[in-house]
Amino acid sequence: MNSMQRLISQTVKRFSAGGEAHGLDGIRSAMCSLTPRDVGLLAGQPPIRRESCGYIGVDDSPFCTICIFVLKEGAKLPIHSHPAMTGLLKVLYGRVIINSYQAPCANKTLAIGQNIRATLDSVSTLTADNEPSIVTPTTANVHEIHALENSAFLDVLAPPYNDEDDRSCAYFRDISLGAMVAGAARTLEVIPPPRDFWTQPMEYEGLPLAP
Ligand SMILES: [Fe+2]
Repeated sequence: MNSMQRLISQTVKRFSAGGEAHGLDGIRSAMCSLTPRDVGLLAGQPPIRRESCGYIGVDDSPFCTICIFVLKEGAKLPIHSHPAMTGLLKVLYGRVIINSYQAPCANKTLAIGQNIRATLDSVSTLTADNEPSIVTPTTANVHEIHALENSAFLDVLAPPYNDEDDRSCAYFRDISLGAMVAGAARTLEVIPPPRDFWTQPMEYEGLPLAP
């Protein structure tokens, strides 16, 4: 079993119905073993075409989504939620800033224009040398990602976004003034999906996946 198959297997094992209630170590270690070459990318590679963000779907099941975002230097994933989800984000190459917020209300259905209270959990700069950044339903469940250079990261989300199960992705803007320091109370306004953010599908050309 190659490293990507191991990641898929570890993720399904952890999150399938009746999955083992252990921690995330198996997933984390499988993610950390993957290199850009393993997923079919060259370190420093920008997304194809003009778009600032490429999206490579690796695996989609009722239990999880495994995908890769390929960001051009300067690209931003707007502030967005992961309602009632667990997520692990591992940088494959490049350097990104992640602003993580804790916003319990983001687990519910939200209306455009609504303001919610949040706490800024952390502002972190991550490279391939760092452990995965982790999202849980109660911690760091809203975040913004900003590529300081051409970057790619692997994303594991469980369960997947699903509008019918009230797990829609909501977008926000931070309308608070003041310094972005960890622990600060912030107010986030729910906004429509930003028009200047879209992704370009890219082919997965990495390690073979099990049929
Ligand atoms: Fe995210």
